[in-house]
This record gives sequence, structure tokens and C-alpha cells, in this order.
Amino acid sequence: MKSLVLGAALVLMLVGCGERRETAPTAAPQISPAGDVNAGKALAERSCKSCHGLDGKGAGPAIPHLAAQRERYLVAALREYKEGRRHHSGLRELAKKMTEADIRDIAAYYAAQPAVAAGPGADIKHSSPYEQGKKLSEACTGCHGADGNATETGTPSLAGQQPAYLVAAIHEYHRGDRALGTMQSMLSDSHRLDLENLALYFSVQKPVQRAAPKRGDPKAGEALSTACGGCHGAYGVSRDMQTPSLAGQDFEYLVKATKAYWTIRKNWGMQRYVAGLSEKDVDDLTAYYVLQEPRAAEAMPTPTQELAEKCNRCHDDESNLAMAAPKMRGQDKDYLIMALRNYRDDGDRESSTMHRMSFPYSNAMIESIASWYASQPAK
Ligand code: HEC
Ligand code: HEC
Ligand code: HEC
Ligand code: HEC
Repeated sequence: MKSLVLGAALVLMLVGCGERRETAPTAAPQISPAGDVNAGKALAERSCKSCHGLDGKGAGPAIPHLAAQRERYLVAALREYKEGRRHHSGLRELAKKMTEADIRDIAAYYAAQPAVAAGPGADIKHSSPYEQGKKLSEACTGCHGADGNATETGTPSLAGQQPAYLVAAIHEYHRGDRALGTMQSMLSDSHRLDLENLALYFSVQKPVQRAAPKRGDPKAGEALSTACGGCHGAYGVSRDMQTPSLAGQDFEYLVKATKAYWTIRKNWGMQRYVAGLSEKDVDDLTAYYVLQEPRAAEAMPTPTQELAEKCNRCHDDESNLAMAAPKMRGQDKDYLIMALRNYRDDGDRESSTMHRMSFPYSNAMIESIASWYASQPAK
């Protein structure tokens, strides 16, 4: 019962005890010699049990499970605490007291524990921001149309709109930065996560092409639109999460929204570009954008599983000895959320790989991917 038993029961069943290490590429000198599982157990008993259990199951929310985690990842994580590259103060203190041998022993011990069974709290339905957003959208579709394709004159479509922009727009109504009673009162007490879920839902709906408006000259508008395309995208389909798409939007709404930057709406980029426009220019530009073919903004894979496939390239890869990516299936959900937010928000974890990966994710996305992993049986 050496630490070769990496706890990955499946791998062991298929490959047989010990074979993994024998067949591993020899060019991995940074992999330390195996730790002593019994010494690790004694240390766990003394210093770790109260939080991680003797079985490696986190004792509460946001405490990670260590059972069946990759040994090399546990070693790497403990070294990061020790060297101050991860800043959790309690663990830092603990790890500072540990010798290299202690680290290897404890890693060997926890890696060899059977994986934690997914708890009953793992509710995948609850975890889908898309489904939550869909449910919340019922409060909006009366005015904004089925799936966010508005038919009422003066009411904007939300279908396919950039999600970060939608959230920002709602905040503007809250703050009174935009004039309109109806919208201002609509969402006053929604939780931020709810807004993100709503925005995500609308952003992936298919926007519908509009008929030609009665006013405005789209040809003249096209010529003027060269000043707008740099931000609003070619043909008014924005590629930037903060900048709204204009293609296929309601005519009257767009006219009003553009003119609002002459008065109440504040955005320096916009204010500058619309300041010199005449009433006719606004009609022409709007006519041009209304006629363009709208396309949904959301480039992110919506089904959480598709996103997870991207993550699994590193996180499910048993063969990559150079990179210590942890297993995440069956991990504590709150812990995963916290870790991802830390990477994204430049928090107390430094990992340039993960930082780049998680940078574009909204809270809702993080919640969903964390729930997905937490609900997967660990292996
Ligand atoms: C007081 C509770 C507590 C004790 C005691 C404790 N831990 Fe932790 N441990 C935590 C928490 C909370 C985290 C998450 C910290 C973070 O955000 O970096 C954590 C994280 C870890 C991680 C990183 C896991 C990952 O998936 O990145 C390792 C490894 C770890 N602990 C090992 C140990 C070992 C070994 C001991 C005993 C020597 C120990 N811990 C004692 C609470 C504790
Ligand atoms: C009573 C009708 C009504 C309801 C219900 C309603 N809205 Fe609106 N909404 C409007 C109108 C009208 C506007 C345009 C206001 C303006 O001119 O600024 C608008 C504007 C918006 C905008 C700004 C769009 C943009 O392109 O800048 C967003 C975002 C929005 N609504 C989201 C929602 C959401 C989310 C809900 C449901 C929770 C909702 N609205 C419910 C009528 C409504
Ligand atoms: C420097 C970048 C930039 C340029 C150039 C620009 N915009 Fe914008 N535009 C934005 C941003 C960012 C917003 C969202 C601002 C906010 O939250 O109020 C916006 C918002 C808008 C809106 C409101 C949309 C809605 O759904 O409420 C309209 C309409 C608009 N722009 C039209 C134009 C037109 C027409 C031009 C060219 C004359 C143009 N913009 C040029 C960045 C730009
Ligand atoms: C290019 C490889 C790579 C990809 C792709 C990747 N990760 Fe990671 N991930 C890592 C590495 C390496 C670490 C360990 C970094 C550290 O020590 O902080 C890590 C750590 C994590 C952690 C901390 C877990 C723990 O136990 O502490 C989470 C959560 C995480 N990744 C989530 C994700 C998600 C979600 C995705 C997909 C959206 C993803 N990762 C994609 C390499 C990757």
C-alpha cells in the first residue's frame, strides 16, 4: 500500500497497482519520491482532521475535499501555502511548520483515500443559470416579447444582447441614470446573481430580423456608421460584452436611446460620437442598424457540460505530469466557487493559467460550472 495507489480507483482497476508510475515518462525529475502513508495518517490525525476529516472529506462548506486528489497537486498546493503563493493564513501557518517529507507523506495519505461520494445536495437543476434566468424572464417577456424579441414599439429587444451590457443597463435604471419609471421599478430588489442569470438567458436567445422602418435612410446611415462600427461591431453585431449590439433593435427605442446621450445617459465614448449628429443622422443611422441581421452575442458554450469539456483537457488529464491540475469532480461546490472567484478577481491565488481561463466568467457561470463539477461522481 504505497502512495502509488493514487486513489484514482478507476485508473487502478484498469491499469493495475503501480503501473502508472512505472510507465510514466522518466523526464519528470520534479516528481518527488513517494511519501509514507502511515506517517501521513498520523499527521492528518494531529493537524488536519478537524477540517478535512481523516477520510479527506471537507468538514463544511468551502473546505475542499482532499480524498483521492492527485498526489502531485496536493504537494504543489501545500508548497504554495508554505511559500506564500496561496495566502490562506491558517494553512500558511500549518504548511510553514511542515517539512518536505511531511508534505509528501500527507499528500500520499489523502491521495490514497477513496473519493468522497457526491452528496445529496448536488442538485444539477438548481445549478443551471440558464434555467434560473429563463424562469425569471417570465417577468419581462410581457413587455420584451417571447424570448426577448420585443414587438411593442419603443421597447427594446433583449434577445442576443451582450450579457454584461444587459446587467449594466439594469443597474443604470436602478441608479436613475436613465429616465423611465417602468424599468426603474422592475428589478429594484433583484440579487446580482439573478441579473446575471437573466442576462445570460436573454443573451443566448435568437434575435429576430426586423422589417424596414418607416423613417430614415439606411444608405445614408450606412455611411455614417463607420464611426460606430469600431465599438458596436460590423453590421451592429457587437463582439464586446460591455457594448450593446444595435442590429435588429427596435427603431423607436434606438432613436430615443441615441438621443438620450445628448441629455441623460452618460458614457463618454457615446456622448462624443453622438454629440455632432443631427435628428436626421440619428434616423438614418438607426434605419441602417435596424435592418442589419441580428446575431446572438453569447459565444460562451451555454450547456455547462460543453464548457467543462474545455476544463477537462487539463483537469481530467492523468498523463500531464508537468502541470499539477487538481481533480474537480465531486469537490465541494462552495470551495470551487471561491477558488474560481479568487483566480478571476486577482484574489489570493496566483495562477496565470487559471487566471486567464476564468477571467471572462460571470458569477453565474462560475456558480454553474462549480455546481456541475460538485455534482459529478468523483473518480
Ligand atoms: C481550520 C481548518 C483547516 C485545517 C486544520 C486544515 N485545513 Fe486545509 N484547507 C482548509 C480550507 C478552508 C482550505 C481552502 C483554503 C484556500 O482557499 O486556499 C484548505 C485547503 C487545503 C488544500 C488545498 C486543496 C485544493 O484543492 O487546492 C490542501 C492541500 C490542504 N488544505 C491540506 C491540509 C493539510 C495537509 C492539513 C493538515 C496539516 C490541513 N489542510 C489543515 C481548512 C483547513
Ligand atoms: C412594463 C413593461 C416592461 C417590463 C415588464 C420590463 N421592461 Fe425592460 N424595458 C421596458 C421599456 C419600455 C424599456 C425602454 C426604456 C428606455 O427607453 O430606456 C426597457 C428597457 C430595458 C433594458 C435596456 C435595454 C437596452 O438595450 O439598453 C433592459 C436591459 C431591460 N429593459 C430588462 C428588463 C428585464 C430583465 C425585465 C424583467 C425582469 C424587464 N426589462 C421588464 C419595458 C419593460
Ligand atoms: C467608443 C465606443 C463607441 C462608439 C464609437 C459608439 N458607441 Fe454607442 N455605445 C457604446 C457603449 C459602451 C454603449 C453602452 C453605454 C451605456 O451603458 O450607456 C453604447 C450605447 C449605444 C446605444 C444604446 C443602445 C441601447 O440598447 O440602449 C446606442 C443607440 C448607440 N450606442 C449608438 C451608437 C451610434 C449610432 C454610434 C455612431 C455614431 C455609436 N453608438 C458609437 C460605445 C460606443
Ligand atoms: C490549461 C490547463 C487548465 C485548464 C484548461 C483549466 N484549468 Fe483549472 N487549474 C489548472 C491548474 C494548473 C490549476 C492549479 C493552479 C493552482 O495551483 O492554483 C487549476 C486549478 C483550478 C481550480 C482550483 C481547484 C482546487 O482544488 O483548488 C479550479 C476551481 C479550477 N482550476 C477550475 C477550472 C475550470 C472551471 C476550468 C474550465 C473553465 C479550468 N479550471 C480550466 C489548469 C487548468
